[in-house]
Amino acid sequence: MPSPLERLQLKFNPFEPSGSGAPASEKEPWLPERWKQKLKKYFEQLGVGEGIRPLAVVGEYGSGKSYLLHWLDQHEFPRRRVQSYYFNDPGVQFYDLANQFLRRLGRKHFSKLVWELAQPHVMHRQLTLFTGTYEDFLGSFRQKDRPKLEQQIQAALIAAKVTTDEEIASRLAQIVMDTPNKPYFEYRDFVPGTARSVVAEHQGANYFGALLRTLRLAAGVEKVAFLIDEFEEISLHRNITAAASQDYRVTLKRLIDLTDAGELWLVLSLTHDGAEKTKQLDQALWSRMFEFTVDPLEDDEAYDLVKNRLADARPDELKPKHDLFPFDPGFMADLRPVTRSIPRSIVKVCSAAISQAASRNKKSISNVDVLAVEENLFPVSGGER
Ligand SMILES: Nc1ncnc2c1ncn2[C@@H]1O[C@H](COP(=O)(O)OP(=O)(O)OP(=O)(O)O)[C@@H](O)[C@H]1O
Ligand SMILES: [Mg+2]
Repeated sequence: MPSPLERLQLKFNPFEPSGSGAPASEKEPWLPERWKQKLKKYFEQLGVGEGIRPLAVVGEYGSGKSYLLHWLDQHEFPRRRVQSYYFNDPGVQFYDLANQFLRRLGRKHFSKLVWELAQPHVMHRQLTLFTGTYEDFLGSFRQKDRPKLEQQIQAALIAAKVTTDEEIASRLAQIVMDTPNKPYFEYRDFVPGTARSVVAEHQGANYFGALLRTLRLAAGVEKVAFLIDEFEEISLHRNITAAASQDYRVTLKRLIDLTDAGELWLVLSLTHDGAEKTKQLDQALWSRMFEFTVDPLEDDEAYDLVKNRLADARPDELKPKHDLFPFDPGFMADLRPVTRSIPRSIVKVCSAAISQAASRNKKSISNVDVLAVEENLFPVSGGER
């Protein structure tokens, strides 16, 4: 006996009920042609020698910002040999972002990268402590050798062009040596001082730059990209205090400085409110970014969204009666324009309609049923989209 979804000629429900983020799929997800054209423009202007400007993805709730960031993270950046990291909710301070990044990277992994990067640059024969593999070192490290070893690693890092700054090289060396005793990593390990507030205003980004350079040089990665989703969370703090607004600008400025220095490729997503707020706070800073507006979908784009999702979920070889089966071929025209122009609303309606039809063992989904689902999710008097 066919399962309820099989009756609808689907292997699974291709629409996520919550209408958030990206669907789980190995395949490269579909992207509207207009979005691709805008991205093309952005990538082209990178070629004209002005360095990489941060990309600010601006759109309404549910318009597809996270979807686009995931697409860049999982498909476009790997194609461009860019090692990317996706962050959600990074916290207000640069410090929080740096901390999250380091934790994700892992202290042991990072120490190993530093070790391997430094090793070929040990120039003097007497630097005998600094030989063998990183694992040997972790097993045999003696505290009494520490000062000498630190010096060696420091010199090697400067030779490897990770940094020209002795203080930064010394911090990196200490991180390597502390790893056997302290397996996790905090950004405060990496900057002078202990309290958050002591993180030196300008130094923080320099350290972070050295850290990213280590990653690039040691892992053989051409570029490192940060994709920071929901960046508006930072700018739209309820009753934003003067201090929080200052932190926000400092964070943004440091990130942009790292971009300017060529250490980082930066992509931010913001709602329109968040972008407005940022412009108000610092128009000059905003003008350094490339703005990508995620507009509401045109009708043919909405159609393609549904068509492509359904195609992913059909059994191989199956030829559907039409592209939108098990829905009615004209069902999208009957949805309210406000529903069909927002990806989240489309996804939620389709998801609920398929679940309902499956639970009722239907073989197709009538227009009346879809419109009832739409009204149920988004009552005319105003439901949440
Ligand atoms: N181009 C697209 N093609 C297919 N599905 C899409 C597309 N854009 C968005 N979606 C889907 O629409 C829903 C909403 O998208 P997403 O979560 O990216 O919105 P958002 O702009 O990040 O919203 P929020 O502001 O609430 O974070 C998700 O289920 C997503 O998979
Ligand atoms: Mg999102």
